[in-house]
Amino acid sequence: MVTITGLDLKNPTILAAGIMGTTGASLVRVAKEGAGAVVTKSIGPSPEEGHPNPSMLQLECGFLNAMGLPNPSYVDFTKEIEIAKKEAYVPVIASIFGGNADEFVKIVQGLSPAKPDAFELNLSCPHAEGYGAMIGSDPIIVKEITSEVCNNTDVPVWVKLTPNVTDIVLIGEAAASGGADAVVAINTVRAMAIDIASGYPILGNGFGGLSGPAIKPIAIKCVYELYDKLDIPVIGVGGISTWQDAVEMIMAGASAVQVGSAVFEGLDVFSSISSGIDSFLTEIGYDGVEDIIGLAHEMV
Ligand code: DHB
Repeated sequence: MVTITGLDLKNPTILAAGIMGTTGASLVRVAKEGAGAVVTKSIGPSPEEGHPNPSMLQLECGFLNAMGLPNPSYVDFTKEIEIAKKEAYVPVIASIFGGNADEFVKIVQGLSPAKPDAFELNLSCPHAEGYGAMIGSDPIIVKEITSEVCNNTDVPVWVKLTPNVTDIVLIGEAAASGGADAVVAINTVRAMAIDIASGYPILGNGFGGLSGPAIKPIAIKCVYELYDKLDIPVIGVGGISTWQDAVEMIMAGASAVQVGSAVFEGLDVFSSISSGIDSFLTEIGYDGVEDIIGLAHEMV
């Protein structure tokens, strides 16, 4: 068991935003498969269809996506959170996005009656005009949105950060000074692929965000830097598919890990990561995950 921002998780694996998080039923399914907590698909102020297809493609090193924040709006999504809350029996975290602090607050107020266990602020989607990383790359805006949200909710606020900046620590510090209870690092890395037969970019949006194994070392470095400088927990995400990846992320400084792309390999990824971590800890003689959080910092 781990406790993060006051939430008790039966194990340190969390379903990352954007994967199997569009309905209450799919969140319940992932929880039943062993995730310690689940995060919804990012929910915004109004219904969006998203970017034109193709919106996702598999590369040799991971996935490239530009879904374009498709979602039914917070008004329609409230009932999905209610379903997840009733049947998942693990913390349910609402990932939300808006274009400014007022929109974020409106969504927080709209979703609060469904009682999500925490909010994760998406300040990091790499390809949405006026949303995500476009505002999440500015420390002043990050601090303002975080503090407005914190003033309007009693549940923990996690801020998901973009790696597409010169210094992720500056953004993490802005979130912390706005009152964030944790930061989540990292969202996808801006990327693109081109079809050489036609000469056109493959994604409907032209470019998108890269996830999966290719970005793990980037995520490890970001988590390592954030752990060094922040006094709030860091939740690690990016390319984790095995218990060894998770242990590495925890040793870099993560208090828990999120799993996204690896879900495509099978939903047993959560139970195999958490049981692998447990066996590793027992074998080495540690009492729990907290004994290895940030361990890599003691070694240099
Ligand atoms: C989408 C992509 C992201 O990386 C994200 O954080 C949120 C949404 C999307 O394309 O829908």
